[in-house]
Amino acid sequence: MIKFDFESYMPKVELNNSYEELKDILKNDSMSGWFNIDKMISNEEVMDIKKTALELSSVNDVLLVIGIGGSFLGAKAVNDALSAYFGDDLVIFAGTSLSSEYLIELWDFIMDKDIVINVVSKSGGTLEPSIAFDYFYEKLLSKYGEQELKNHIVITTDQSSGKLRAFAQKNNYKSFIIPAGVGGRYSVLSAVGLFPIAFAGFDIDVLLKGAKEVDISLAYKYACIRNYLYGVGKKVESYTFYEPKLLYFGEWLKQLFAESQGKNGKGLFPTCSINTRDLHSLGQFYQEGSKILFETVIIADRTSDLYLNNYNMPMDNLNGIAASKVALAHLKNEVYSNFIVMDEINEYNMGYLIYFFEVAAAMGGYMLDVNPFDQPGVSEYKNLINEVINK
Ligand code: PA5
Repeated sequence: MIKFDFESYMPKVELNNSYEELKDILKNDSMSGWFNIDKMISNEEVMDIKKTALELSSVNDVLLVIGIGGSFLGAKAVNDALSAYFGDDLVIFAGTSLSSEYLIELWDFIMDKDIVINVVSKSGGTLEPSIAFDYFYEKLLSKYGEQELKNHIVITTDQSSGKLRAFAQKNNYKSFIIPAGVGGRYSVLSAVGLFPIAFAGFDIDVLLKGAKEVDISLAYKYACIRNYLYGVGKKVESYTFYEPKLLYFGEWLKQLFAESQGKNGKGLFPTCSINTRDLHSLGQFYQEGSKILFETVIIADRTSDLYLNNYNMPMDNLNGIAASKVALAHLKNEVYSNFIVMDEINEYNMGYLIYFFEVAAAMGGYMLDVNPFDQPGVSEYKNLINEVINK
C-alpha cells in the first residue's frame, strides 16, 4: 500500500482539465506499447521468464546483465531495493561505462563461478554493452566451449531488427523480446527488467500486479503539480529517499524524467538525495540556497524491527519524524515537497511506483509539448563518437 500526499507541504495547485485528453493521446501514441501491460507482456512470456530464471539460477552462481540506460536501470533499482545490504549479489551489471578496469576486475571476481550472460539492448548496437558483451562472450566461450555456451547466454532485444536478434537466431540462443513501441526507459516491466528480477528470486507476478493497479489519475495529478512548479520557476526536482536501498530507484527516475522531458530547452532537472546522509551536505542548499528546487520524498513506514530504547521508538519512526520535520523546515522557506509513503518496500509497491512514474513522465512530456519517447540529444553525441570510431 502506498499513500500519496501532494498537499501538506505544497502550495495549492489548480489542476487543469486535460486528464481524458492526455490519456487518449498516450493510448494512441505509437511508443506507448508499455501502457497496456497485458499487451506488452503475455502470461506465457511471464511464465517462460520465471521458468528460465529458476532453471538457470539453480545451476549458476551469477547472472551478468549487460546493458545501459533503460536496459539496466530498472532491474538494478528493483533488485537493490529488495535485496539485503550485505551478501553475494546474484545479479551483477556491466556495460554501463567504458571502464576497462571494471571489465577486468569483474572477470577476475567471477571467473571461477558459473555464469549466465543476459545481454539487453533494444537496438542491439549500443557501444558500451557491445564492448562488454564481446569481452565476456569470449571469456565464456573459452570457459564453456561452443555447445555448452548455449546454456549460458540469454539475449533480450527487439523482435526482428538489430545485430543481437540476428546473432541469437544464428546461434540458437535463448532470447526474450522487447516489443515494438516500448523504449528503453519504459521497458522495466517487460523481459528487460523481469528476467533479472526473477533471477534474483523476486516475485514478478506481484511486481506486475502492483503496476496494473496504479490509479492513472493520481499519476496525472503528480504530473500537473510538477508542471505547475516548473511554470512558477522551479528548475530542479529532487527525489529524496530515506532508505539508501532506493538509491538506484533514484537513478532510474533521473533517467526516466531527464530523457523523457529534458528537450527543446525545457524540463525540470531531476536529481536525488539520500537522507539522512545528504542532510549533512546538500541539506544546507535545499534549506537556504537558490530557490530553484522542490522535492518528491519517497519513504517506507516499516523496514525492520530495530527499536531504539534510548528514544522509546522504532528507528523507522525516527526516520519518518526526520522526513516530516525536514519538509516542514523546507516549507517555511518555500521549498515544497510531495510525499510518497510505502507501507514497506516490496514487489507490489515497487511495481506500483514504476508504472506510476512512467505514466507521469509521459503525460508530463505532453504537458510540456515535447515527445516523451525520443532522446535526440543522446543520438547527437553518440553520432560524434561514432564518426571517430567507425573511421
Ligand atoms: O531509454 C532509452 O531509450 C535509452 O536510455 C536506452 O535504454 C539506452 O540508450 C540503451 O539503448 P539500447 O537498449 O538500444 O542498447
